[in-house]
Amino acid sequence: MEFPMARLEEWMRRAYFEADFDIGSSGVENYRLRELRELVGLSLDQLDDVVFHDSNTLGDFALRQAIAHRYAGGKTERVMATHGSTEANYLLHLALVNPGEEVIALASAYQQLWSLAQGLGASVRFWRLRPENRFHPDLDDLRKLISPRTRIIIVNFPHNPTGAGLSREEQHELVAAAERCGAWLIWDAAFAELVYTAPPLPNPATWYPRAVSMGTLSKAFGLPGMRVGWCIAPPEIINRLTSLRDYVSLHLSPLVELIARSVLKHADQILANRLSAARANLAHCERWASAQREFVEWIAPQGGVTAFPRLLHVDSDEVCRRLIAHHRVLTVPGSCFGCPEHIRLGFGGARGELEVGLDRLAKVFHEST
Ligand SMILES: Cc1ncc(COP(=O)(O)O)c(C=O)c1O
Repeated sequence: MEFPMARLEEWMRRAYFEADFDIGSSGVENYRLRELRELVGLSLDQLDDVVFHDSNTLGDFALRQAIAHRYAGGKTERVMATHGSTEANYLLHLALVNPGEEVIALASAYQQLWSLAQGLGASVRFWRLRPENRFHPDLDDLRKLISPRTRIIIVNFPHNPTGAGLSREEQHELVAAAERCGAWLIWDAAFAELVYTAPPLPNPATWYPRAVSMGTLSKAFGLPGMRVGWCIAPPEIINRLTSLRDYVSLHLSPLVELIARSVLKHADQILANRLSAARANLAHCERWASAQREFVEWIAPQGGVTAFPRLLHVDSDEVCRRLIAHHRVLTVPGSCFGCPEHIRLGFGGARGELEVGLDRLAKVFHEST
């Protein structure tokens, strides 16, 4: 088992902490504990009362109930709370992937959604989101990749980094394609609630028996530092994840579980104000891109808080390096997603940072030619 370096994480390890203006991350503006406590009505006394005992392997029951209520049709037995969706994804791959099997993954994509399977010895076939289709997923392309050996189809919509989405009909076609070959569908719903043009897609794990889904507080909820995510899967898969977790992380912290529980109970409030800020920021990005069309080929995202435009006449790696080194602006080079002509822009953060960051990015374009 050998996993390649995760290129996005490697870039972030350095650049994230050097940035004053973050226009590259994939989440919304992060909450401070004080603001969050006020929003969800959590008192300091409640935090002080936490006892740091071991928690349950599957996660605190009330937290799992809150996740199930919102995302799993109320079926708490199908939920495991995890350290971010990263842990859910890791455990799911250990549970489901065997050497020599075929896995279909999106390309480009968040790297862990394909390189885990490769590291476990599977052969990965890529369902390419093509820029000439404005990254819109083509279901015929997917059907051509499916074979009797397809074990897993793993997708993430809305998609990081392009913001591509699926319609309800396309989602049904995707599930039908997985069903015809009996494949597992791993549905990464990290950005599910960050949508602008249609309501959030339903979770296939609530109707397709071989679907598992992942979710997280890191993106739409603005809480990446909480490290809380979840997996929704049939009980027999949850049992396998339970044994695997004994070798990885055992359980979550009771402090984090208390906060996460309150957050999920007030999810609509927490999501609504960040979503409306992201919508306004997206409009700002579109105006900016139109003014910069000499350098930027804009492809409008359908969801999430990232866009993945193509850069014209300038080198994306070089632009991103200069931005962080000379202007303290964080963006992500497309090479982290295997697309060196593109750049990932994140528009979920504070408006002031976005405006300064985009101004400086435009300045670097002009300096680079
Ligand atoms: C598509 C996708 N899935 C999963 C993750 C992992 O997030 P976390 O572990 O913080 O939940 C990320 C992080 O960027 C992501 O972009």
